Amino acid sequence: MDEMNGIRIAPSILAWDLGDLERAVEISVQGRADQVHLDVIDGHFAPNITFGPGTVKALRSRTDLKFDTHLMIENPQAYVDKFLDAGSDIITFHTEVMNGSVFDDLQRTVRARGREVGLAVKPETEVPKWALERLDKVSALVVMTVNPGFSGQKLDPAVLPKLQKAREYIEENGLGTDLEVDGGVEPENVQEVVRRGGNVLVAGAGVYGKKDPVGAVAVLRERAESARRRK
Ligand code: DX5
Ligand code: ZN
Repeated sequence: MDEMNGIRIAPSILAWDLGDLERAVEISVQGRADQVHLDVIDGHFAPNITFGPGTVKALRSRTDLKFDTHLMIENPQAYVDKFLDAGSDIITFHTEVMNGSVFDDLQRTVRARGREVGLAVKPETEVPKWALERLDKVSALVVMTVNPGFSGQKLDPAVLPKLQKAREYIEENGLGTDLEVDGGVEPENVQEVVRRGGNVLVAGAGVYGKKDPVGAVAVLRERAESARRRK
């Protein structure tokens, strides 16, 4: 079992050469990342189109690393089974495209297969009440610090108070939910992100954009751990 709310590094392969995703996964393995973050975008929820369950399945055959699949799609109900079949370990849905009862159905579907559920919010979205009330069923609350669509954007510091509030809520309610921060996490800001309560750190450009991407995983981890110790 992972240490509860321990630091975890989740490289986002969207930042790598999309013609060579096998290598992207291999870099995460070599860098000893905790999980690999797979950004699925449908051209409706956000202005880009990335990859689907076929790609996830193909990558699944290359590694045992935990697959953290971030669904930035309008209609997750239509695709959840396909991503489960493809081998996603954690499937993250956006609060903006559902309500509590749709979430309940999705959650049951994912749990029935022994996988985990995440819930994500865009930078401008407050975590809705229905989501707060169900956080005990959510492995990771994903706070996006860039607008969904592309890797390589700058983290928006205006989102940090929301992150901190979410951490306080989790602690006050004795929940085990991870707080995952997604967008623009870099060695220069990862300590601030951790001080504000983030513990699962997604990094696209912060890993795959570096000269030494394998080493970049450890750099993020060391900085994050040391911020955590000084908290
Ligand atoms: C944005 C994605 C993010 C992004 C992260 O739509 O959800 O996961 O790829 O990449 P960086 O770390 O480069 O912002
Ligand atoms: Zn993402």
